[in-house]
Amino acid sequence: MNLTLWRQARLATLADKRGWGLVERGALLVEGSELRWVGDDASLPRGLAIDAEHDLGGSLLTPALVDCHTHLVYGGDRAREFELRLQGASYEEIARAGGGIRSTVAATRAAGDDLLFEAACRRALALLAEGVATVEVKSGYGLSLEHEARLLRVGRRLGASLPLTVCTTYLAAHALPPEFEGRADDYIDALCSWLPALQAEGLVDAVDAFCDGIGFTPAQTRRVFEAAHALGLPVKLHAEQLSDQGGAQLAAEFGALSADHLEYLSDDGVAAMARAGTVAVLLPGAFYFLRETKLPPVAALRAAGVPIALATDHNPGSSPTLSPLLMLNMACTLFRLTPEEALRGMTVNGARALGLAGRGRLAAGQRADFVAWDAEHPSELAYRFGGANPCRRVVTGGRELIR
Ligand code: NIG
Ligand code: FE
Repeated sequence: MNLTLWRQARLATLADKRGWGLVERGALLVEGSELRWVGDDASLPRGLAIDAEHDLGGSLLTPALVDCHTHLVYGGDRAREFELRLQGASYEEIARAGGGIRSTVAATRAAGDDLLFEAACRRALALLAEGVATVEVKSGYGLSLEHEARLLRVGRRLGASLPLTVCTTYLAAHALPPEFEGRADDYIDALCSWLPALQAEGLVDAVDAFCDGIGFTPAQTRRVFEAAHALGLPVKLHAEQLSDQGGAQLAAEFGALSADHLEYLSDDGVAAMARAGTVAVLLPGAFYFLRETKLPPVAALRAAGVPIALATDHNPGSSPTLSPLLMLNMACTLFRLTPEEALRGMTVNGARALGLAGRGRLAAGQRADFVAWDAEHPSELAYRFGGANPCRRVVTGGRELIR
């Protein structure tokens, strides 16, 4: 098997439960798509037949980033809605008046497959340029069998065309489509009935829902989760974003991979997530862009030992950002995460929120996804914001993409 040696790097391995895992004069040995050995250059195993060697010139090396919550595939934009919100209309008011997610559904249904793919591709490449090697992509702007399938297929096509791992999530329970107006329970029946065919086509890695006053009730969400579980699919949830619905407890009951947003999460919700091992995915972009003032209960999550992940939540309505590094910064400034918690949130804990244990750390046996940064210390990744991109080299599955 082909062995590649990467040396002269300062490593932030995140290999242990706590600490950066710094290795001053670090080296990595890559075998195929896996890390075979990680450590101090001086203790590199001797006598190996190395096929290629790269000198990293002392740059900082971290695990590649994992963006575990995005809505990357959609048509149109919501710049006009942004203006309305600045003039005083709330996200909920706009949604209840038929705008919001529904306006993106109309623009998405009207867009051709290639247009959707090309726009999503550009967005994914922007994430990749800041060090993302794994991205989750949700459906949820199609809201019919035909259109949800189209979005999931675009997600799969992204994974096949780009050097990224793409995880697809079925989010038909995102909003009520106009053809089901006043018949939310019928819509839940319908979207549950579409799931077996989508799964049979290999389009679904996980199932999500939007449990909220402007989304679906806990009872409706439960039916979505039951349908997912009947097919052996893991679940996630947009929970307690705008109000406390007890969504986190429901997600925990179904052993959810993650509950996401969580500004209105209660103590009971925190405890339930801790018991179930459900990851808390915090989304500072949506918090910022919706001018939310209620903070997610970070101290309580920490005290209960709930793993915290971070993601861009890229979408046209609540978080039109493509900068994972800005999210690291915002998680620290807005949510008071430490820079180390923030980086863990976009690496090892982001991977966990996708059910991927084999990535997100620099350690033997992990997937060889790593990034060389123009930085001396990993805290710099969360410290700077906007402007110069410090990402210098990206390696995914052992192959170098950006240099
Ligand atoms: O994660 N809250 C629900 N879903 C998205 C926003 C979708 C939209 O506004 O288009 C979110 O914030
Ligand atoms: Fe979202």
